[in-house]
Amino acid sequence: MSTPSSTPQPPSSNAWGAFNGTRRSGRTADLLSLDDFEAAARRVLPRPIFGYVAGAAEDNQALDDNRQAFREIALVPRVLRNVAERDQGVTLFGQRYVSPFGIAPMGIAALSAYRGDIVLARAAAAAGIPAVQSGSSLIRLEEVMAAAPGTWFQAYLPGTPERIDALLWRVIAAGVQTLVVTVDIPVAGNRENNIRAGFSTPLRPSLRLAWDGLVRPRWLAGTLLRTLARHGMPHFENSFAERGAPILSSRVQRDFAARDHFDWSHIAHIRRQWRGPLVVKGILSPQDAALARQHGVDGIIVSNHGGRQLDGAVAPLRVLPAIVEQAGSGMTVMLDGGIRRGTDVIKALALGAQAVFVGRPFNYAAAVDGEAGVTAAIDLLRAEVDRNLAMLGATTCAALGPEHLMDRRAR
Ligand SMILES: Cc1cc2nc3c(=O)[nH]c(=O)nc-3n(C[C@H](O)[C@H](O)[C@H](O)COP(=O)(O)O)c2cc1C
Repeated sequence: MSTPSSTPQPPSSNAWGAFNGTRRSGRTADLLSLDDFEAAARRVLPRPIFGYVAGAAEDNQALDDNRQAFREIALVPRVLRNVAERDQGVTLFGQRYVSPFGIAPMGIAALSAYRGDIVLARAAAAAGIPAVQSGSSLIRLEEVMAAAPGTWFQAYLPGTPERIDALLWRVIAAGVQTLVVTVDIPVAGNRENNIRAGFSTPLRPSLRLAWDGLVRPRWLAGTLLRTLARHGMPHFENSFAERGAPILSSRVQRDFAARDHFDWSHIAHIRRQWRGPLVVKGILSPQDAALARQHGVDGIIVSNHGGRQLDGAVAPLRVLPAIVEQAGSGMTVMLDGGIRRGTDVIKALALGAQAVFVGRPFNYAAAVDGEAGVTAAIDLLRAEVDRNLAMLGATTCAALGPEHLMDRRAR
């Protein structure tokens, strides 16, 4: 992170803003919550791209339960505790961040916004929060690291030890400090909604696809044509050490390189090569959390991939306490999936997460207004966390705990 490691900035938004009529300006002025960005992005993005971002697997059971799990928890505030000095910062792997949330890795972000990965990484760096670049991205990780040096990198493991090593060397050479390995894709999730929305990777040229683009002229000119003119046809740049398939092609098949044979020996192999913080993303079982700890992993992201992989997979929040117990004190536990409000952030932290990640809303924010949009979304969530800390009677994230929570269904 190029921004402060020891001097966090105060939240840029004022908790009384809505009361005293403070208004933001620009394209996102009317977007007052993270959910508002979804409708705005739907108006900007072509149907297949919006469908890819918004979609989940099969019947959306995992997607819906990610939100439901938060709704089932009520908050129990404490009062009269002098909360004038609030600091929502957290320390992850020795690095101080200004807020306890970051931007989750999202593939193909450069189709949501012009230079999307750089937009997300730069906005995060400027705001002092972590961002994770996806391994399924269309901009070379070296470029993203140059633009926002503290960005974390998420890898999907290529099929053989030689290809894993080649990718690791590239990641090390690019100056990445924190490596996230996503492990919940042994096979592709069943995203039938992608087919319905006309999305595939690569995208297949068709009249329908052309029409979908033509009816979104701002995206067509500002994202697609601008990208083609300045950078040529985007390719998957970071799945392997070498360049992957183009994003648009009638014939090319993407190389998913048989991910179904991976096991913990591959994590052990990576652990031997990778000296920096190693994070495993996609853990839902306490037993797997214990295995991660035994393999010397530094952190885990409790995640069901935003409901995009195994439909019906348990919501991360539901398994968080048992996973925190298994993780012990040596491993950093983070969570993603369904975080849309400051209160969601607070609930996850009170259940033992040290930080959380947010996916889709930041992708929508990039689509709506590029870096300024992502900054606006970060500011909104940051202001919510700040306000909620105060109303709960807490001045730091560390002060949050089970005493602030109650199961809404309990009598
Ligand atoms: C459009 C999109 C692309 C994604 N691509 C990746 C990816 O390349 N690697 C990965 O580990 N997770 C990926 N994810 C999952 C996110 O990192 C994260 O787990 C999820 O979005 C969190 O849920 P939320 O969107 O409800 O916040 C993707 C999610 C979305 C929405």
